[in-house]
Formats: sequence, C-alpha cells, structure tokens
Amino acid sequence: MVNAIILAGGYGTRLRPITCSIPKPMLPVINKPLLSFVISRLLGDTPDLKRVVIAVNYRAHEIEAYFEQAQKELGCEIHVVDEKKPMGTGGALKYSQKLLEDDSTFMLNGDVVTYFSYKDMHAQHKRTKALATISAIRVEDVSRYGVLVSEGGETEIREFYEKPRTTELIKRYSRYPVNAGTYLLEPAIFDYMEPGQKLSIEKDVFPRVAGEGKAHKFEFSGIWKDFGLPDEYLAGNFIILEEELKRLGKDSIVDPSASIDSSARVIPPVCLDAGVKVGRDCTIGPRVVLGRNCEIGEGASIQDSVFLENCIVDARAEISQAILGDGVKAGVGVHLAGPAVLGSNVYIEDQVTLKSSQAQTIKVCPWVTLTTESVEHAKNDGAFVH
Ligand code: GDD
Ligand code: MG
Repeated sequence: MVNAIILAGGYGTRLRPITCSIPKPMLPVINKPLLSFVISRLLGDTPDLKRVVIAVNYRAHEIEAYFEQAQKELGCEIHVVDEKKPMGTGGALKYSQKLLEDDSTFMLNGDVVTYFSYKDMHAQHKRTKALATISAIRVEDVSRYGVLVSEGGETEIREFYEKPRTTELIKRYSRYPVNAGTYLLEPAIFDYMEPGQKLSIEKDVFPRVAGEGKAHKFEFSGIWKDFGLPDEYLAGNFIILEEELKRLGKDSIVDPSASIDSSARVIPPVCLDAGVKVGRDCTIGPRVVLGRNCEIGEGASIQDSVFLENCIVDARAEISQAILGDGVKAGVGVHLAGPAVLGSNVYIEDQVTLKSSQAQTIKVCPWVTLTTESVEHAKNDGAFVH
C-alpha cells in the first residue's frame, strides 16, 4: 500500500485574475478541476493507493465540498487538510505526518499534470532503496525549477539546487534535468523536518537528502505541464485535450447535452461541456474548451481559447487566445485577440476591439465593464485594465 499528499496551497497569484474567484487547484482543465485530474492520473496507475491528503491553506471549504462528493467516484480515502497559514512545501508534508507515516508516500505538486508511469517510479524506488525518488524532466530554461545533478548514467542525485537564477548558475546547471514535482518518499523523510515550522522541501530537505546520497531521480520524457502562468494554463489545456483524445480515440469531446446548430463549423480538437449552445454559422476551433452552459451567438468565431462556465458571446464576436473566467459576456461584434485573461463576470460592450501586443498579456479584473473608452484609456497608459 502507498499514501499520497498533493500540495494545493498557495494563492495562484501568477494566474490572476482567474484565480481571484477560483482557488488554483480547482481551476478547470478540459472542464475538470486540475486537482481531480491530478488525482485520477495517480489513481489510474496506483491501484494500491490507500489514502490521499490534499494539503491546502486557503478556501479549504470549497475544495472539501467538491471532494466529499468526488471521493465516492474516485473510490479512495481523501482528507483535505487545512494548514490555516502557509507552511511551505516541506511544512505542509510535516503537518500531515500522522496520516502518512505508516507507508511510502507519493508527494505531488498540485499544479502539475504528468503522463508518466507511477508504477515504474515505484519499482525504481524499491530497487534503489532510495529515501526520496524525485521525478525528473529536461527543460530548456532551468531557472524556474529545482535542478537535479547526477553523474554519468546513474540515478543517484549528487546535488539538488532550487532555481538557479544568475547567468553563471544557469550555465552551470543547464545540462541537468529538473524536478518535475512528483516524489516518492519513505517515512524517514519526516526526521529531516521540525514540526510547526515553515519549510521548503526543495530548499531545506532535498539538498540534505541528496548530500547523504539517499535521493534518486526518476527521469521520464513526454507530457509534463506546470500550470504556473496564464499562457501555460492555455497551452496545458490543449496538450491535455490532445492526450485525452488520443486515449479515447476521438477527435473532440462534446457532452451529449451540448447543442450545436447544424450550420456551425466545429474544427477539432474542441471540448464542449454540458449545456453548451453554439448558434448558426459559428466557427468553433481548433483548440477551444467551453465550460458548462456557455452560449455562442450567431456567426461568432472562437479559436485557441478556454472559457469557464456560463460565458455568453454575442453575434459575430471574434475571440482568440483568450481565457475567460466564469460568467464573462462579450457583446455583438466584439473583437478580442489575446493572449488575454479576463476575470469572472467581465462585460465587454458591443463592438469593442481589444488586441494584445504579443509582449503583454491583457488582464482584466473581475466585474469590470470594458467600453471602447476604457480600452483606449488602458492602451494610452500601457496598463492592464482594472
Ligand atoms: N499546502 C501547501 N502549503 N502547498 C503549497 C505551499 C504551502 O505553503 N506552497 C506551495 N504549495 C504548493 C503549490 O500550490 C504548488 O502546487 C506546489 O506546492 C509547488 O509550489 P509552486 O509555488 O508552484 O512552486 P514552483 O512551481 O515555483 O516550483 C516547484 O515546482 C517545480 C516544478 O513545477 C518546485 O518544486 C521546483 O523544484 C519544481 O521544479
Ligand atoms: Mg508551480
């Protein structure tokens, strides 16, 4: 048997404004909360999973309410543990020691989706008798990640270095793979942490474990998506959509209750949730994810975008590269060309044109009304629209 802890704290500040109204772990990825996606991936490959702890530190009740229901479907014990204040990645683990210390524990960063074999990772972990096995992937820019230094073809990690920021450090570490955010840990890991303290597993624990030769890497290639930034959220939705479609052998996912006018053009891949309505002569896709009850008016055209629930797009609007929070309304003839992130319930008046210069993602706070004047004003200021 094995336990798991999923780190789902933090405020998701880099994903604002969509995280203003939805806790980051509950952000939908192809219309399912990121967290439930992460748990199903783990469960699908770990049949002997006993207990899953979801470690959160804000908006715990929303996450708890969801998983009280989902627990029945997922078929395993789920505990939502609220730290009250952020304890850091290591502190969060230590805080749940009592629930986890009876067995090995998978620890997962809750903002990452991977498609590797947890089974293979477990097998390697047993073979090497590691105290900590850390999943590893190669990336172009190592500066945002923890670097895993090993020599030759060995799995033993000689050094763990979290986020090398200077040019010199980046140069030194860029030939190594990075921490992909999934670990398999033995109960002895708890001896490396003092209770009641804010601790970073990446800075305070792994460097020591690696120094003692007890950490190994499990290197994999393939799908790995960190949902830290808005463009990663958009790209992540599309990569995962492609992956799920491959698995299902389909070219799109359309809920049976979605209604699509026969004159509309749907260009795969798309993912349309329950109650979606697509009107006459619309063009939807490629790469479009529409949440529950979104309505797309006559002649509108949507590409490369993710809409959360209840968005309404009026006739002849054109939207591309946009993330729309729940309840966003775009008027007749609106032209929105992202990258753009609109908070929940933003209202765009008829005929407003909003285009991003590629250098800057357009961000609009929740409940803002965008008029031609406000857009002009923001352009002149070179600022985001608040
Ligand atoms: N419960 C809890 N409490 N969770 C936390 C806390 C906390 O105080 N702080 C962060 N988390 C959660 C975040 O929600 C996220 O799921 C995970 O821990 C990692 O934190 P991030 O803030 O997203 O870290 P990062 O992306 O900059 O770096 C981490 O992930 C990289 C891979 O994506 C590190 O683990 C890097 O080493 C790694 O390469
Ligand atoms: Mg992250």
